[in-house]
Amino acid sequence: MYGIIGNAPCMQKMFKLVERVAKTHATVLIQGESGTGKELIARAIHQVSPRKDKPLIPVNCGAIPEDLLESELFGHVRGAFTGAAYNRPGRFELANKGTLFLDEIGDMSPKLQVKMLRVLQERIIEPVGSVKSQKVDVRVIAATHKDLEKEVAEGRFREDLFYRLNVFPIVSPPLRERGQDIATLIKHFFERTAKDMGMVPVIINEAVMSAFLQYTWPGNVRELENLSERLCILSDDKVAMEDLPEKLLDGKNRHDGETVTGQIPAVDFKVRPVTEEESRDFNKEVESFENQLILSALDRTNWNKNKAAKLLNLNRTTLVEKIKKKGLERTEKP
Ligand SMILES: Nc1ncnc2c1ncn2[C@@H]1O[C@H](COP(=O)(O)OP(=O)(O)OP(=O)(O)O)[C@@H](O)[C@H]1O
Ligand SMILES: [Mg+2]
Repeated sequence: MYGIIGNAPCMQKMFKLVERVAKTHATVLIQGESGTGKELIARAIHQVSPRKDKPLIPVNCGAIPEDLLESELFGHVRGAFTGAAYNRPGRFELANKGTLFLDEIGDMSPKLQVKMLRVLQERIIEPVGSVKSQKVDVRVIAATHKDLEKEVAEGRFREDLFYRLNVFPIVSPPLRERGQDIATLIKHFFERTAKDMGMVPVIINEAVMSAFLQYTWPGNVRELENLSERLCILSDDKVAMEDLPEKLLDGKNRHDGETVTGQIPAVDFKVRPVTEEESRDFNKEVESFENQLILSALDRTNWNKNKAAKLLNLNRTTLVEKIKKKGLERTEKP
């Protein structure tokens, strides 16, 4: 969906929320760990919204010093401060009729939080140094990697502002909770790098794939993206175990969640096709990889679909549909 890859049930659930809220003008608060795609989600919401033909204006509240941020957001008039030679519109005004994306809202200073609360309540802005206020029609999407409820509890974030922002909360799930998206994401990043650099196909074997699946990915999709690009450049035709960073091989960084797929079947996993033929090949291999994952989970649970679904971190219905669609059958009777 809009360049956001996610087949995992938690992602599918999130896409439904995104589609629903996008059609409205409601304020959205996107929370999630760093690198989980919060900015992509904000862009997707804007693209589906009735405001899609108007601008989406981003502001990184964490990167701009407090005084500058105020004039960035609300604008300033000539002479408002030393160096203010002209009237300058703020991002709220630039986003009029469109969407304002307040990134890293958790880093906003207490003083600006008060001003922001007022703007959200009244949709009126006051440029720095101006005595006149101005009405704006702006949809606000805010994002943060911080746990805002915790920030509120610890007195760093205003509770009233939190409630104003949290009209429609969306949580972007960490990568370690959606192991089944890893293969698709690698394919996506490998293909993109390959296209940029015109390189030969790279193969990921079961051992490498298994290390990918068991790693906790603290930097989430961004970390996977960077590593995929690096491996794509480093590898001749096969990703070698030796090319993986130490942290992927180190048992300390493994999670014990059930997303770990246990025995990874012995199948070469071609992730970066170069020609159309190879790309068909790739799909076939993914299909067979998926079949083997499902069959091995079913075998291990004695064909108990509930348990197998749990093991694969899939919805039971998704698993049942897949079994039916693929026509998978039990070969050995108990
Ligand atoms: N589901 C996804 N599918 C494809 N690419 C993704 C996905 N999630 C994240 N990415 C890519 O990972 C990188 C990080 O995503 P993004 O900047 O949206 O994360 P973020 O949650 O805003 O992180 P931060 O909190 O550090 O700002 C981007 O290059 C983005 O394109
Ligand atoms: Mg971001």
